[in-house]
Amino acid sequence: MTTIDDTTPSHLRGNGRPTAVEQTITELTVTGSIPAELDGRYVRNGANPFTGTSIHPFFGDGMVHGVRLRDGRAEWYRNRYVQTPFIADPGLDILDPSVVMDITASKANTHVVGHAGKILALEEGHVPYVLDGELGTVGPTDFGGVLTGSFTAHPKICPETGEMLAFGYSPLPPYLRYLRVSADGHLVQTEEITVGGPTMMHDFNVTRNHVIFMDLPAVFDLELAMRGEMPIHWDDSYPARLGVMPRNGSDADVRWFDIDPCYVFHPMNAYEDGDRIVLDVARLSHIWRDSMMDFPMPHFWRWTIDTSTGQVKEEQVDDRPGEFPRVADSVVGLPHRYGYMMAIPSEGFEAVDGAAGAILKYDRHTGATSSIELGRGHMPGEPVFVPAEGASAEDDGYLMTFVHDADTDTSRFVVFDATTMSAEPLASVDLPRIPSGFHGSWIEDSVAG
Ligand SMILES: [Fe+2]
Repeated sequence: MTTIDDTTPSHLRGNGRPTAVEQTITELTVTGSIPAELDGRYVRNGANPFTGTSIHPFFGDGMVHGVRLRDGRAEWYRNRYVQTPFIADPGLDILDPSVVMDITASKANTHVVGHAGKILALEEGHVPYVLDGELGTVGPTDFGGVLTGSFTAHPKICPETGEMLAFGYSPLPPYLRYLRVSADGHLVQTEEITVGGPTMMHDFNVTRNHVIFMDLPAVFDLELAMRGEMPIHWDDSYPARLGVMPRNGSDADVRWFDIDPCYVFHPMNAYEDGDRIVLDVARLSHIWRDSMMDFPMPHFWRWTIDTSTGQVKEEQVDDRPGEFPRVADSVVGLPHRYGYMMAIPSEGFEAVDGAAGAILKYDRHTGATSSIELGRGHMPGEPVFVPAEGASAEDDGYLMTFVHDADTDTSRFVVFDATTMSAEPLASVDLPRIPSGFHGSWIEDSVAG
């Protein structure tokens, strides 16, 4: 058991601290009623250091937490480490050069998605890890030997074609590769893309016909790497650009558009509107300028690329800080009306027990914002939208997440009504404490058994 004292990093305090146990719970207490049509798993990934400590919130070991719903019941809750080399050998150092070069040496801690019959645990520096339907680890995958570098934690699954569009970045050339995975799970296209340098590209954007890369001024720094620190720093001399490429295009087809310096970990969505490409994003003014914990508040912005004039209009949408933006899976790359985010409390990213949590909903047609205010001490994670059966509107469905209660130091899995945004969940499942984490998905058996 790790003792928490004044020297404990903020990401290991409060609900940032890891859980020491893997559990399977089948007798679950449900308040309210779980919609009977929900047949699948909500699974969320996060960094949960196996040794109890890590030098940075991004370096903990991947632990997935899942809740299985069927016939209006919560069948189980499970949490499992992704069985990476770091679990087999807790002495491995992620910043050791020989470990860095091993593309299976993933922390597998960032996201979990279902595609082509597989559940993939993802982290951006390495290859995906395949999980089974009960969150056990099958093992790393390089798509049958085709993937020779890293694979992003934020692939985009096209709701029209079923393709999974992705990329991988690297601190060494080639700095960026575009990756296109067919609907049946084969890596069918790999393209080297020229960027300004070893940029850290956490996420990207897709539209019906294009992908958009974000070449931003957070770059790999070999000196920091040699010192054993987070090897990325902010570079004021590095131009910020958006690169638009046809989905089956190559490096020569990329058109680059300058934007003001900023960092975006997570876009909400992108789509085409005639000659324009619209991108809704959670934008930070910079990252990692002063230290490896330098995260200014993220805000919701809209970028509109005019591909005929080459200009990009940049507008702030909301002054309330928010992160982990999502849209319905059915509108990824297509015009969206609604977007959802986790509000960032005024105390910032640090694990502050007692802060007031909220989930935000944006209506991009009317400009209206609504929210689920959870009150002090109740902190949600990323809201995942799941459509209602036979949904007639884009927001006809549910928002799922885990909510931590600082008073009891326990968590709940909650299902909110996305239409009404009522703060009273439709269903709430009592769970042990689930540490704060990153991204998740609703995964039905048809997507991944
Ligand atoms: Fe992310």
